[in-house]
Amino acid sequence: MKSDHRVFSSFTLPNGTELKNRLFMAPMTTCAGYYDGSVSSELVEYYRARAGSIGTIIVECCFVDDLGLAFPGALGIDSDEKIAGLAKIADAIKSKGSKALLQIYHGGRMVDPKLIGGRTPVGPSAVAAPRDGAATPVALTTEEVEGMVGKFGDAVRRAIQAGFDGVEIHGANTLPDPAVLLAELKPARRRMGRQPRQPCESSH
Ligand SMILES: Cc1cc2nc3c(=O)[nH]c(=O)nc-3n(C[C@H](O)[C@H](O)[C@H](O)COP(=O)(O)O)c2cc1C
Repeated sequence: MKSDHRVFSSFTLPNGTELKNRLFMAPMTTCAGYYDGSVSSELVEYYRARAGSIGTIIVECCFVDDLGLAFPGALGIDSDEKIAGLAKIADAIKSKGSKALLQIYHGGRMVDPKLIGGRTPVGPSAVAAPRDGAATPVALTTEEVEGMVGKFGDAVRRAIQAGFDGVEIHGANTLPDPAVLLAELKPARRRMGRQPRQPCESSH
């Protein structure tokens, strides 16, 4: 690819943020965090090594709640104690002139109980994911759905405090998306007059 290709030209977002080029590194879970989801020094160096020529790095998904940890070695942003470690990643990326984004998620019903100390995962309904061996989650009450959405908000605040330029919500692979939960599920429960913890059909 020629160095004058448009992909190497800068790009200004509607909010005025300038990206030095149009290259993004996709979020890729490395499973290289500590057992509790805190940042290892190897991870800081992994992101530092990739920053610089890529305009924007999206850091792998970080769980917003300790019940939402979906991969061994996954990173977490579920407590204020994690901010300092994540700040080292943001600093490593930004010190090389790239923008640093961070992806957040809740594993919901995709969580393996073994990863959360044998606890039962949670989800919008008590319906297991259509995957071999998937656990049947405990259905969240409407109030707990609101609590989960609040955890996404807390995660965004921590990402900002850690110095990240932006946040992306991971809603693929049947993971619960907080916007969808609030926009569709809660009103649906109200309309249907369901009681907390009763299964509620949803498209997720
Ligand atoms: C090892 C690995 C880890 C990944 N982790 C994440 C992740 O944390 N979040 C996410 O949204 N996608 C994740 N993905 C998906 C990638 O971000 C990307 O969407 C996918 O590899 C397709 O991109 P491609 O068409 O350029 O190959 C992962 C992919 C791989 C191979």
